[in-house]
Amino acid sequence: MGSSRPLRVVLLGATGAVGRAALELLEEQDPPVGALRALASGRSAGGEVSFRGEGLRVDEVRAGAFHGSDLALLAAPAEVARSWAPVARSEGCLVADASAAFAGDPDVPLVVPEVNPEAAARLPRGTARSGCGLAPPVALALAPLRAAAGLSRVAIVALEPASGAGRRGLEQLESEAMALMNGREPEPPSAVPHRLAFNLVPQVGPFGEGGATGAEALLSADLAALLPGAAVTATAVRVPVFYGHAAVVRVVTGRPLGAAQARELLRGAPGVKLLDRPGEQLYPMPMLSVNDDAVLVGRLRDDPTQANGLELFLSADNLRRGGATGLVALGRLLAAGHLRGR
Ligand SMILES: NC(=O)c1ccc[n+]([C@@H]2O[C@H](COP(=O)([O-])OP(=O)(O)OC[C@H]3O[C@@H](n4cnc5c(N)ncnc54)[C@H](OP(=O)(O)O)[C@@H]3O)[C@@H](O)[C@H]2O)c1
Repeated sequence: MGSSRPLRVVLLGATGAVGRAALELLEEQDPPVGALRALASGRSAGGEVSFRGEGLRVDEVRAGAFHGSDLALLAAPAEVARSWAPVARSEGCLVADASAAFAGDPDVPLVVPEVNPEAAARLPRGTARSGCGLAPPVALALAPLRAAAGLSRVAIVALEPASGAGRRGLEQLESEAMALMNGREPEPPSAVPHRLAFNLVPQVGPFGEGGATGAEALLSADLAALLPGAAVTATAVRVPVFYGHAAVVRVVTGRPLGAAQARELLRGAPGVKLLDRPGEQLYPMPMLSVNDDAVLVGRLRDDPTQANGLELFLSADNLRRGGATGLVALGRLLAAGHLRGR
């Protein structure tokens, strides 16, 4: 990962949705990871995950589990990351976290390596976060527009899939769809507040003051950090899609840009694939994003109601681009700096 010295990695949350995607990405690293340890809760301890075609034992996370590793990748719930990140650090690891545990903490920077790698230079707690949900993909799509013309406003409707709520979200949508298709009454919802199958739920996370949900507040704050100068507002809707998130994005640039120029800027931008041939019915969709590490961007057009306004639609694999891809890329960045500093 970024050096000829084989890196020793520990992955906490290896059995989860993001953790499994991270395992696939770690298999593909060149140069290869030297050693990998898989950790989860006691529920999965003793089981195995697949790595490079073989079974890798899963251990329960405990004090001492991070000793002997260089880098800890955390793909676990926020409260678990909050407990174990300091332990991983004290046992000698640099820490990359995919959760929202440290959101708003000025000593734990949000880093999307293609957008703000310089933010990883200051790591008072040896920990950085890769951002969860749509903030990293939207930032990747908007960073080239901001660099060219500035961004004063970003308004997003985020369409979040069932897997955004982890394994429990997937299980809820699957069991509800099966029940309804077979004429049975679904079980009461468990991961999403209402029935998700054949429905839309305009609530992702608990409501806070002012009426925004936790996911909306986090998305707005993370995007404002990644795209300084832009005022950001977001509405998040849980949609009955298993994998892949999407967003309707409206922006106001600081200077006139126009859809044609924006399209040229996005063609070949890092981490972005332009998919914008409406005449051929070619545009981003969650289905096309699955297993792709790029953000798909299309439906680019001028907003006729707003000076300097642009509209676009994007989709991304929430487990890879929205989760594991950024987590592993951040790990690579931290490890590269660490190895240089040795
Ligand atoms: N899903 C997404 O689209 C997405 C995208 C970006 C970021 N994220 C963030 O990534 C993190 C993981 O999300 P996910 O969707 O992969 O969740 P998930 O499928 O529910 O997996 C959670 C993982 O954490 C482990 N875990 C849970 N409680 C634990 C405990 N007390 N001690 C140790 N390990 C524990 C689980 O292990 P067991 O098998 O033992 O339960 C499992 O490996 C979350 O913070 C989430 O916000 C998710």
